[in-house]
Amino acid sequence: MNRLATRRPGLAAGAVALLVAAMVLGARPLPAIASPPPRQAAIASAHPEATAAGEEILNRGGNAFDAAIAVAAALAVVEPSGSGLGGGGFLLLHRASDDFDVMIDAREKAPAAATRDMFLDADGVPVPGLSKNSALAAGIPGEPAALAHLAKHYGRLPLAATLAPAIRLARQGFAMYPRLRGGIAIKRDVLLRSRELSRNFLDRGAVPANGFIVRQPQLAATLERLAARGMDDFYRGALSRELITKVRRMGGIWSAEDLAGYQVVEREPVVGNYRGARVVAASLPSSGGIVLIDALNILSGYDLGALDGASRKHLILEAERRAHRDRAVYLGDPDFVDVPVAQLIHPYYAAGQRSSIRLDRALPSSALPGVAEAGEAGTQTTHFSILDKEGNRAAVTITLNFWFGSGLVVPGTGILLNNEMDDFSIKPGVPNGFDLVGGDANAIAPGKRMLSSSTPAFVESRQGLMILGSPGGSFIPGMVLNATLDFLDGRSAEQIVAAPRIHHQYLPDRVLYEQGALSDAEIAALTDRGHKLEPSSRRWGNLQVITQNFANGEVQAAADPRGDGAGHVY
Ligand code: DON
Repeated sequence: MNRLATRRPGLAAGAVALLVAAMVLGARPLPAIASPPPRQAAIASAHPEATAAGEEILNRGGNAFDAAIAVAAALAVVEPSGSGLGGGGFLLLHRASDDFDVMIDAREKAPAAATRDMFLDADGVPVPGLSKNSALAAGIPGEPAALAHLAKHYGRLPLAATLAPAIRLARQGFAMYPRLRGGIAIKRDVLLRSRELSRNFLDRGAVPANGFIVRQPQLAATLERLAARGMDDFYRGALSRELITKVRRMGGIWSAEDLAGYQVVEREPVVGNYRGARVVAASLPSSGGIVLIDALNILSGYDLGALDGASRKHLILEAERRAHRDRAVYLGDPDFVDVPVAQLIHPYYAAGQRSSIRLDRALPSSALPGVAEAGEAGTQTTHFSILDKEGNRAAVTITLNFWFGSGLVVPGTGILLNNEMDDFSIKPGVPNGFDLVGGDANAIAPGKRMLSSSTPAFVESRQGLMILGSPGGSFIPGMVLNATLDFLDGRSAEQIVAAPRIHHQYLPDRVLYEQGALSDAEIAALTDRGHKLEPSSRRWGNLQVITQNFANGEVQAAADPRGDGAGHVY
């Protein structure tokens, strides 16, 4: 009997039978889709200066992977609220010379001194804010190791070249812009606690006006040091000793062994097949690719194009509900828990899930066996997409988790600490900052990586290619799902990033929708089916999309109009 059927709750008998059949028959091989080299290179990122940093490196003879290092480092400077050296992420790469797809897992890890109940008080109740706004909230960072790995194994240029634009931006400064101002307003009280952060990001204690020049001399010095000595300095050298002393002084539990032992892992991405298109996306410890492919598998049983808008959206929401339920129940760090990934992304499993979907009725999430009931998702983190003229691709989602991570900077270094520990399930059934619930599979353990929703992805069809991803926490897989459907329907990159969004994540059992996402008739039709609809007061996500049309060679790059980013084609 398979593991899913015996140890996990909630599978209908029919689904189990289908799973067994799936195991006997095996998955169908996916057709490889040949993608011709593009005529142009393209970069889409959350900030024009970061996009320009990537272009500078392409112009200096770097490939997409060198450009990815430059863009990531520049984003650490110009979008310090979203990602940086004190964080981690997922880098999905495609090397054109041998058609090799790989995911670099640079997710943060729990320190060795972390314990399962470290964010609970003596009565077992979560201590408010501890997993988000303290040095204990910081996992061991993976981004510096990822940049070193990219440079060593995939790039052509030395770090001294690829980090140069970021160093310049940190030293000379950049102009304050609306989205960053918004984040600073949210975190002003926290920033005021540090002299370094208030000096760099506030204007005499106040939220600066747009156009205010943000300079980060400490971060410039750290980047210069890493460019000269290599990233080893962060994990094993003098910088590592400085980080440990200062993080511990702030109440953290990092040790020399934690930093010295951190390594990125090359993992196989998850691959699915939707109506002839090949979808390649982030694998565990991100849930993103599994949720995306499971939802696409469920939807592949319907002719979405032949349905009215409300029915189409109903089915997408029902697919999201089921895929997110599996996230909550089964998914965690694959180095610690056995996750039946092949089964969860198998078409026969989706067929079982489809059997509980009615076209005329929403299924309450409480009817799906799972974990217990679950605020609001923000738009921090960052994603960028790159395509070079050789056809190499990078889809990179990197994060500190919430705005400015834990809001703590390691004094004198410019390195902001992540608060990724909140992505663990701090107690079964207790929702995290994204209202996501989880259980044992995502419980805290020393050295374990916390589950993510990052969904960097490639979608390849006979007509063309899309490279994409977004911030947005639990909203990410659904955004990538809808973008995939829009792309396969022939929409342009600009249309895809601008499309209004709807979202379901299993728990809380509600549909959030942006203004303009649903017509009055659709609202009525979905309410009739039993969906609990809630208009979102905010817009979410910051999708960065590149497309290549194989027929006419056209390359498009578009940054989400919700953000301040830039997509350029060169
Ligand atoms: O890895 C994750 O799923 C989260 N730490 C991502 C956080 C995020 O996207 C914040 N933006 N809203």
